Amino acid sequence: MASTDQRTYAEVVDNRDHHDEETQPTINGHRPHRSHHFHDSEPLLGRPGAALQRPNAPMISNLYLGTGFLSVLGLLVVLISLTAIIASHKTLPLVTPHLLFQSLGAVSLVLAILVLQPTSHSVPDQKRLAARWHASLQVLSFLLFTAGVTVIEVNKHVNHMAHFHSAHAALGVATYALLVLQYLFGFTIYVTPAVWGGEDKAKSLYKWHRYAGYAILAAVLATVSAANWTDYVHKALGLPTFVLPLGAALVVLGIFPRVQKSKFGYVRV
Ligand code: HEM
Repeated sequence: MASTDQRTYAEVVDNRDHHDEETQPTINGHRPHRSHHFHDSEPLLGRPGAALQRPNAPMISNLYLGTGFLSVLGLLVVLISLTAIIASHKTLPLVTPHLLFQSLGAVSLVLAILVLQPTSHSVPDQKRLAARWHASLQVLSFLLFTAGVTVIEVNKHVNHMAHFHSAHAALGVATYALLVLQYLFGFTIYVTPAVWGGEDKAKSLYKWHRYAGYAILAAVLATVSAANWTDYVHKALGLPTFVLPLGAALVVLGIFPRVQKSKFGYVRV
């Protein structure tokens, strides 16, 4: 019979419901905490454990686990296509940095989500470390998005250009405003839970931070896609209009199937 270590993590998690704590299977000497682990491990699409970090797996594997690699591919499509097209054109000091800052901001934001998604409270050390990575990458994405928005607004001001003249511009302003609120929400529930009435109260709000996070991610990806239809990106740089939407679609296909249902309070009964 195959030993526990030879079985897939999904199989181990699948069987876990039928065991007592003491007879729980171990994976390379680790015994994941039993309670609710089965529920924790069920993603939106796929089998329980399909997008769950193994107890001894490196943090970096969270980025490509399950469908995650599709998101990484999508980020590469956005980053490489924009960098390549910028490199072959004359740079504009108040526009080119916007493209670079915003695409790097999107990369940082998506990596921050990918690194945390496959963790579970059943392996608290991993979850703590991933939460630190999540917070650090989100601080970085905030700084990048803020720099990018500042640059483009300065460009509009200096050149007396109209605001909101494209779908991208309107979406960009709305998305950035939502992002700022979400950064504030995330920062306070994680770093200063006292402002929400204590750690337990703050933790009960994590669910709403997740709902908002996935909704705002969709808004960021819509903004990135719409950028492809701006006069500058499509006409001046000549980027074919399918490129950024393709990158955004790959990110969606990678991230959304990995959503753990139990983290939203949906558990199997
Ligand atoms: C990564 C891909 C992106 C590219 C290639 C890009 C490109 C552009 C271009 C060419 C403009 C000037 C044209 C216009 O105003 O219609 C612009 C404006 C703008 N973008 Fe982006 N952008 C990207 C991502 C983002 C993201 C993710 C945000 C928000 C978080 C954003 C926020 C804005 C804002 C606020 C404006 C100016 C709005 C105004 O005052 O009218 N962009 N972008």
